[in-house]
Amino acid sequence: MLSILQCMNCNRQYPIDAVIYTCEECGGLLDVQHDLDTLRKTVTRDTFDQRLGTYEAPYNSGVWRYKELIYPDVKQEYIVSRPEGNTNLYHSPKLAQWAGVKTLYLKHEGENPTGSFKDRGMTGGLTQARVLGMKRVACASTGNTSASLAAYAAFGGLEGIVFFQNKQIALGKLSQAIAYGSTCIQIAADFDKNLELVRQVGIELGIYVLNSINPFRLEGQKSIVIEAIQQLRWKVPDWIVLPGGNLGNTSAFSKALYELHKLGLIDRIPRLAIIQAEGANPLYRSFVKEFESYEPMHAETLATAIKIGNPVNYPKAVRAVMWTDGVVEQVSDQEILDAKALIDGQGIGCEPASGCSLAGVRKLVNGGIIKPTETVVGILTGHLLKDPDATISYHRDELGTLKANYPNHLHQAEPSVEAISQILMGKGEAQTA
Ligand code: F0G
Repeated sequence: MLSILQCMNCNRQYPIDAVIYTCEECGGLLDVQHDLDTLRKTVTRDTFDQRLGTYEAPYNSGVWRYKELIYPDVKQEYIVSRPEGNTNLYHSPKLAQWAGVKTLYLKHEGENPTGSFKDRGMTGGLTQARVLGMKRVACASTGNTSASLAAYAAFGGLEGIVFFQNKQIALGKLSQAIAYGSTCIQIAADFDKNLELVRQVGIELGIYVLNSINPFRLEGQKSIVIEAIQQLRWKVPDWIVLPGGNLGNTSAFSKALYELHKLGLIDRIPRLAIIQAEGANPLYRSFVKEFESYEPMHAETLATAIKIGNPVNYPKAVRAVMWTDGVVEQVSDQEILDAKALIDGQGIGCEPASGCSLAGVRKLVNGGIIKPTETVVGILTGHLLKDPDATISYHRDELGTLKANYPNHLHQAEPSVEAISQILMGKGEAQTA
């Protein structure tokens, strides 16, 4: 056995096939702990480079390419893979200039099969559900997790059940979960309450929970940074900047970096910068108090994906900041939507929460934390089409107190060459409302 489950607080260990999410002894979060001493002798950069471009499953997946670091012992027959990952790393000089750094790459996790990074976690989670012989899987979600769970459950032959809040759910995400055939339940409660509920339901009804409290989800999500670093030919950037909601990625990224370093696959650990929306910023508030206290909050932000006031992975996120000499920053909804508009305008595109990464880089450069000469990888977590309402409302300037600083107005024209040429000469009518 190369892996076990281990409590991050008291180090108590459990077999890898235990159906358990937190430590029975102290309630701490669990890690999938790999046998790093054995892996150190067997795994090299070449192990992964040789698999690039292969059509062979599971190594054609940008998660399972790193199987030894994700779930070394798992048998191929259990793996549920679309295959996910293999997302692009865009070099963007214009956005770099706007943010104030020389080199900025954007890793686009919206290019996964269901349009968000969740697929990398879900392949890990659904695979473990099959190892355990579970028939039903469930999650609470701000939208993307449910879309991903629904797709992977259907693909893997399991029954999916998803809990949504009953308002502020991006329609792209809701439509995916319905279309992929999961049982979709809208509940008059916010994400944080729904997550509590799904955990209770999981225990009482024997349903496997696939929120990021599930450590197999996080193993899959580690591959985001492993793949980014491989794409940089194993040269680590100075910073990796990402949005923070339930803090699963934060936890997964730091674990990946810690392990890559221990295995000698990277020579230093890049710094993590976790960016929260101002109205959903419990980690940021705790960070500025040097983690002396932590207070859950009621969350409000237009970046609905990260509208989370009590992130379940808070303890792992504190560890992430320690392991990576990381920082936590907050940005306003105005900054988020403007950054998104700029990313969209470069032909790259993303959903609102992903705007945190670019807005965060700019803010951290202005604050003197990120140096202009440093190399930054920003993570775009979801696809532009997930939340068309947010995009259209912005460009129509219909966002109440917020302003569209980078609008692309929609024009109305009569069906005539003259009317169109007026528009192209800048004299036509632009629709702003
Ligand atoms: N970006 C997007 C697009 C997301 O959907 C999420 C989380 C995050 C960022 C935050 O990531 O939780 O790892 O800190 N969405 C979850 C969901 C909560 O239910 O889809 P995190």
